[in-house]
Amino acid sequence: MSGEVTVSGAKNAAVAIIPAALISDGVCVIDNIPEIEDVKVLAETLRSLGAKVDLSVPGQITIDPTEVKSICPSEKLTRKMRASYYLMGALLARFGSAKVPPPGGCYIGKRPIDQHLKGFMALGADVKNTNVVEINAPALHGAEVYLDVVSVGATINIMLAAVKAEGTTTIFNCAKEPHVVEVANFLNNMGAKIKGAGTDIIKIRGVKQLHSCSYTLIPDQIETGTWMVIAAATKSDITIKNCIPTHMESLSAKLEEAGYRIDEGEDTLRIIPKEERPRAVKVKTMVYPGFPTDLQQPFSALLCCAQGTSTITETIFEQRYRHLDELRKMGATTDFNDRVAVIEGVEKLYGTDVEALDLRGGAALIVAGLMAEGTTTITGVQYIDRGYEKIVEKLQSLGADIERVKM
Ligand code: EPZ
Repeated sequence: MSGEVTVSGAKNAAVAIIPAALISDGVCVIDNIPEIEDVKVLAETLRSLGAKVDLSVPGQITIDPTEVKSICPSEKLTRKMRASYYLMGALLARFGSAKVPPPGGCYIGKRPIDQHLKGFMALGADVKNTNVVEINAPALHGAEVYLDVVSVGATINIMLAAVKAEGTTTIFNCAKEPHVVEVANFLNNMGAKIKGAGTDIIKIRGVKQLHSCSYTLIPDQIETGTWMVIAAATKSDITIKNCIPTHMESLSAKLEEAGYRIDEGEDTLRIIPKEERPRAVKVKTMVYPGFPTDLQQPFSALLCCAQGTSTITETIFEQRYRHLDELRKMGATTDFNDRVAVIEGVEKLYGTDVEALDLRGGAALIVAGLMAEGTTTITGVQYIDRGYEKIVEKLQSLGADIERVKM
């Protein structure tokens, strides 16, 4: 393949910012919104609560939360994605109460929400976590919250709940991912007073109200990384446009260790294609700015054809290797025990029928299918559509032989 591909807006920022707009007393217009399933489901969920949501302008969402009355989204909707848990913090900030059924999302581990609830309770809320999460707070007050585990979701959710609480809230041991910073910037754009996002201590000074705003999302860090892996794995000269190279440093360093040279521009990235197979490497996923857990799955497909034996240690989630069974069907030699996967590089992979079992595992199968000899049929693409905008069209424009077919 060859040519240029433009990265879409950040999914894990969008799925937090859309619920965050519920806290506003005015209309919010957000640009560079990715056209993905999770955004459509969240729009439907906000409408079900009484908000007016307009997605008619491509790449833009307009949210008018002024008529929202309900504090209880339906389980049918919340089960469709993980990020529905952000409705807890947003509804709590707006109404002082929320009744949210449990979230869904990719099965990559137990994924408890105890740290989210610990934060809400510290802010003065009473929490009942049965088959729905019921949260009531006569008045939310500032607090000091020390997260037992670095959690993107809990960091953002507590930030949402605290923006209008009486007094100052300090969250310690915060996640520092780019999308955490993005949500803080959006809230500040609406009049919140948040400092320190991107470091491990975030301070939120409560304000009386949040006003309308317009905002443009940053590009998606994980989509950028997926294109970097695709370019390397298929020896293609692809210019990745509208990305933020500094967000990609851990992956860039690992690709350089594997023998690739990377050409970095202001907002572009290019992996210099090379004929020989990548060198085997050791990967350990860590919270940002470490190697992202979301990229270990696509990266593992590239390592299937490395020279030598690679290992991947997944330190964030306890079950994020289900895609390896599918890669084995394509001729990969890989196994895992507990948190460590071992991948012995082979000459090539072979196309066959495989199944996507989660979003980034599905991305791994696309990488493998592009690398393999012969045709690969991937089922379960609804997982992939949750997080990658127009991935088939983008690949076709680069010259890939890929099409979506009706089963
Ligand atoms: C977010 O999930 C992302 N999802 C995930 O991306 C990403 O893999 C993850 O952050 C880590 O970067 C969204 O933003 C919608 P965590 P989240 O809370 O918030 C444990 C993708 O492919 N934990 O940072 O669920 C948890 O079990 C998705 O785009 C608790 O123990 O992740 C995990 O081991 C997949 N208690 C670790 O912390 C809690 O209350 C990190 O989870 C919360 C989390």
